[in-house]
Amino acid sequence: MVDKADFAVRYGSWALVAGASEGIGATYAEALAVRGLNLVLVARRAELLQSLAAKLSTKHKIETRIITLDLSASNAVEQIAEETRDVEIGLLVYNAAFSAIGPFLERPLEDHIQELRTNAFTPLKLIYLFAQQMMTRGRGGILLMSSLSAFQGSAYISTYAATKAFNIVLAEGLWEEWRERGVDVLVCISGAVKTPNYVASQPEQTGGLGDMTIVPDQVVREALDGLGKGPYVIPGRMNGISSFVMRHLLPRKAAVKIMGRILRKMYVKS
Ligand SMILES: NC(=O)c1ccc[n+]([C@@H]2O[C@H](COP(=O)([O-])OP(=O)(O)OC[C@H]3O[C@@H](n4cnc5c(N)ncnc54)[C@H](OP(=O)(O)O)[C@@H]3O)[C@@H](O)[C@H]2O)c1
Repeated sequence: MVDKADFAVRYGSWALVAGASEGIGATYAEALAVRGLNLVLVARRAELLQSLAAKLSTKHKIETRIITLDLSASNAVEQIAEETRDVEIGLLVYNAAFSAIGPFLERPLEDHIQELRTNAFTPLKLIYLFAQQMMTRGRGGILLMSSLSAFQGSAYISTYAATKAFNIVLAEGLWEEWRERGVDVLVCISGAVKTPNYVASQPEQTGGLGDMTIVPDQVVREALDGLGKGPYVIPGRMNGISSFVMRHLLPRKAAVKIMGRILRKMYVKS
């Protein structure tokens, strides 16, 4: 675990948060500002980014820079590379995601492709870009966001869950490759979190298990505490217990069926 005061020493003075305009991403930005890191904030909505950047630079006396773009665009990483050429990104937090909820064939193919681009293709390219520099410096950190839905097939969010599984497996592999080279890799595997995006998806209930939603502060606190320990954290005690049952005590087929039942209750209106 990296001490709060040591963040800038451990990772360098700049962090980039992709998907920073609200919810968990904005909470990461604030938590990193508290640790004294300068921030590059990336998302599509310029006004939200501008007001967050202004607030954090005044409150925490840090430098901020915003990049307004669509992370699913094919040239997104080239644009980020161009706009960060003069700063050393020591910590990459990839938080943005797209989740196309609903029966697979009722969503246009383009939605599934956009999930792949936003959740898998762009983070892969960003890691490739920044990790080269981190390896050369012998220090750095990479934090990816994933979801409990990624531990097994998850009906009605099948592509989203598959992209999030990609993030888990990628992060675990890189953690093992780089843990002796000064570059910390962590994937945060979260259950439901009360974010504007989650609330806007209008889930009926969290599948009859009671309200297990947690708040962004808890996700970010546990993820940043886990950096340097890796390769993954599952925020929230109940999420840890339920995912243990799903992964280790139930046959995989049963876990897929249970997850399908939960998601059907949440999202398929009868
Ligand atoms: N909320 C949950 O229940 C939950 C559960 C498990 C895992 N997670 C994971 O936690 C992360 C954050 O989730 P969230 O609920 O806070 O909301 P989100 O809607 O997934 O992401 C929010 C942030 O990402 C940005 N973003 C999304 N698509 C983008 C794009 N194409 N280009 C640029 N920026 C983009 C949004 O800003 P703009 O709209 O301004 O671009 C916003 O700042 C995601 O990786 C998600 O998979 C969330």
